[in-house]
Amino acid sequence: MNEKLKQIKDLVELELKDSIKVEDIENIKVKYLGKKGEITIILKTLGQMAPEDRKEAGSLINTLRQEVESIIEHNYIILKDSEIEKKINSEKIDISIDKFSEEIGNKHPLTMVLDDIKEIFIGMGYSIAEGPEVEYAEINFDALNTPKDHPARDLQDTFYITEDIILRTQTSPVQARTMRNQKPPIKIICPGRVYRSDNVDSTHSPMFHQVEGLVVDKNITMSDLKGTLETFAKTYFGDNTKIRLRPHHFPFTEPSAEVDVSCFVCDGVGCKVCKGEGWIEILGAGMVHPNVLEAAGIDSKIYSGFAFGMGLERIAMTKFDINDMRYLYENDVRFLKQF
Ligand code: PHE
Repeated sequence: MNEKLKQIKDLVELELKDSIKVEDIENIKVKYLGKKGEITIILKTLGQMAPEDRKEAGSLINTLRQEVESIIEHNYIILKDSEIEKKINSEKIDISIDKFSEEIGNKHPLTMVLDDIKEIFIGMGYSIAEGPEVEYAEINFDALNTPKDHPARDLQDTFYITEDIILRTQTSPVQARTMRNQKPPIKIICPGRVYRSDNVDSTHSPMFHQVEGLVVDKNITMSDLKGTLETFAKTYFGDNTKIRLRPHHFPFTEPSAEVDVSCFVCDGVGCKVCKGEGWIEILGAGMVHPNVLEAAGIDSKIYSGFAFGMGLERIAMTKFDINDMRYLYENDVRFLKQF
């Protein structure tokens, strides 16, 4: 009897060890302790035993029963707890947001170009000036020596809101505004949006961006302009960069020039970026016309100045080898991601 009971206990322990689910343990419980369970059946055989053996056997079986009950209970609790824990873990909702799961964007190529330009000029002691995009025709044109009969004032060229109010066609009116409000020395750059009634194509847009520069002081000469633009070009495009001034006409500067930089890709030899020219046109510039100074109340006999204006799109397109201006405005992430 003793031997048999020990065997049963070993078996129960073995089966418990192998059980992975709570149900396995419930089954073990039924198998040994249930109504028809092995231990129950042995208990039932007590009645058939000789009364003198019954007492000892009874106590042995009951001890086994209590032991088996307690190890089953013990294992049941352990397994049940671990199942609950697994369930909790699997149902856990993480309410925190992973701070790196969102893609951090990057600057728009135009903003990158503008930031670099600003940094260079701020480094040369310039400050940033701003003016309205909806501008008086008088400031956009008259104050800049561009009288009423000038072709730039054609309805075809510009967006008129009223006869006197337009969307500014250039950042140059900020020159006029600054000179009216501030006495020399003046040293500013003015970035901003400008508008012209151009049809959209790969190199034109009715809205684009310019950065204007203006310096007014005593004894400002063309060589200051050249030196400034050269410093800018070398800092922005690289140390080997040269600049070239070609005579041009702007109503508000005299003399005026269009300014090219030697191609930063081929160093002036001629390549795809400079279209074989070796030079890339980047801005218009000149000495502030005395009429413009006088119109702003600055004595042109005492003061002189230079101004320049560059198109940001043109610079961004050359710098990043973008062949269609429209990409800059479409906000297609696949395009913007590349910079
Ligand atoms: N405003 C001129 C343009 O839009 C550029 C320019 C600015 C030229 C300043 C000379 C001086 O083309």
